Amino acid sequence: MNETKNQYGVIGNSVEMKEILSVVKQVAPSDITVLITGESGVGKEVIAKLIHEMSKRSSKPMISVNAGAIPEGIIESELFGHERGAFTGASDSRKGYFELADGGTLFLDEIGELPIGTQVKFLRILESREYMRVGSSSSRKVDVRIIAATNKDLESEVSNGRFRPDLYFRLRSINIKIPPLRERRDDIPEFAIEFGKQIGEKNKINFEGFSTEAMALLKNYHWPGNVRELRNIIESLIVIKGGKQIDIVDLKNFIKNSFEGNGRNLPVYTHKSPDQAERELILRALLEMKADINEMKHLLLNQNGSRVEPHYVEASFDATSADENSLVEPVTIVEKRAILSALERFKGNRRMASRALSISERTLYRKIKEYNLDI
Ligand SMILES: Nc1ncnc2c1ncn2[C@@H]1O[C@H](COP(=O)(O)OP(=O)(O)OP(=O)(O)O)[C@@H](O)[C@H]1O
Ligand SMILES: [Mg+2]
Repeated sequence: MNETKNQYGVIGNSVEMKEILSVVKQVAPSDITVLITGESGVGKEVIAKLIHEMSKRSSKPMISVNAGAIPEGIIESELFGHERGAFTGASDSRKGYFELADGGTLFLDEIGELPIGTQVKFLRILESREYMRVGSSSSRKVDVRIIAATNKDLESEVSNGRFRPDLYFRLRSINIKIPPLRERRDDIPEFAIEFGKQIGEKNKINFEGFSTEAMALLKNYHWPGNVRELRNIIESLIVIKGGKQIDIVDLKNFIKNSFEGNGRNLPVYTHKSPDQAERELILRALLEMKADINEMKHLLLNQNGSRVEPHYVEASFDATSADENSLVEPVTIVEKRAILSALERFKGNRRMASRALSISERTLYRKIKEYNLDI
């Protein structure tokens, strides 16, 4: 039996994880608001669920809401509910997520994406558990435990004027910071073994495990996508190899392919100091950006090397020669293609795709809907 997994299925025995678990144990029984921060895929939702499971509210639901995925125009009615006739199309009154979570826990993910105008209403709920449905003038009360999470640096969001300082100060009093996987490498073998076991059972495959070298590589890899990425890689390799032992060649090939061999995410070897490794990663990222910029420049130039000026694009619509302008594509087509390729590259993970596209997750959701790319 694997003793590293606790009774709630949370894996990790590193010093960092032990510390997190001891804070969870302390805060879970109370109703205190908790902020969980950390990079994408580190396990923020896992810890939120653990807090809920270990609380006296565990027999009631935990409702998870991703603030980044709800269009700005409807976020308040989604969170707080609305009255009949509150806006065009509101033919009935509707409960919001806070009301649905009554008695239980509300997990508000991507709190950094909450529109500034909604933040003040959220602060009010945090302080008095009072809120108003959209279109109503009377306050309601709700009995809910709130857990918020973000992978943004809220402090810099405050300095940029995108996050209310009063809400930030209120939230940060209990802040569980989950370190990236590369900063708690001791957990990696446990994750690998446990995920291997779970994935084998789920797919009814007898999994033979990892070679010693493969395990060493898992331990040294940079894991930009953290635990989620580790799980996905193990799952893919177990299925591809039908459960045969995973060796270092499999892993190297897979890691290279899944990151397009761009080198950015190749393993960080331990003989390098963290500073040196980080400098190399930054350098690689810069080189890659340079290549991207060159590619964009190339796209903006026509075959003759002259710049595509706006008037040229406009002219293309009434130009007689279609050939001459065949390189000019409507922005919507280029955008649609960029979105599709980002979604493909990140296997449908919208958060990672939106980051790669440098747009917010909310904008990505909107565009997916607009272009009908929801498959
Ligand atoms: N300590 C852990 N024990 C077991 N599984 C874990 C642990 N941490 C993460 N995972 C697994 O890793 C994946 C990602 O975890 P989770 O969704 O909680 O991450 P996250 O920090 O909320 O990511 P994001 O910022 O992208 O929402 C899930 O499959 C989850 O089950
Ligand atoms: Mg999450």
